[in-house]
Amino acid sequence: MKIGICSDHAGFEYKTRLIAWLEDGGHEVVNFGTDSADSMDYPDVAHPLAKAVTKGDVQCGIAMCGTGNGMSFCLNKHIGIRAGLAWSVEIGKLLKQHNNANILVMPARFIPFEEVVNITKVWIDTPFEGGRHQRRIEKIEQF
Ligand code: RB5
Repeated sequence: MKIGICSDHAGFEYKTRLIAWLEDGGHEVVNFGTDSADSMDYPDVAHPLAKAVTKGDVQCGIAMCGTGNGMSFCLNKHIGIRAGLAWSVEIGKLLKQHNNANILVMPARFIPFEEVVNITKVWIDTPFEGGRHQRRIEKIEQF
């Protein structure tokens, strides 16, 4: 898959390691930054990632900041984006199965890297269930 990825300084180390893991697995990764552990503002990388997903330049995205909340707030401002915060494998699985999240968000400061890999793997591998969940995700933007 062609996957876009971004983080702020809090997620920079995990992002670097996750890019290597994704590429080892045969995925094409587009890195939206940040490119160092220096303090920066997560909206500066979240919005470009969300635009790339909505335009179809990448098939899906992964974002990390300290808690995952700042990234989620920015990403979910974009029509068509379903960015979900996952901190366990079960939540990562349901995020695809029930919510068909097109961006996976993780809290880099609160989970070990091994969990980041396991959540990413299950989110990529799990299919969307559709059915009643399709109806529900269609209603997200009907307000
Ligand atoms: C950075 O200190 C921190 O605020 C950020 O990574 C994130 O947790 C915001 O939601």
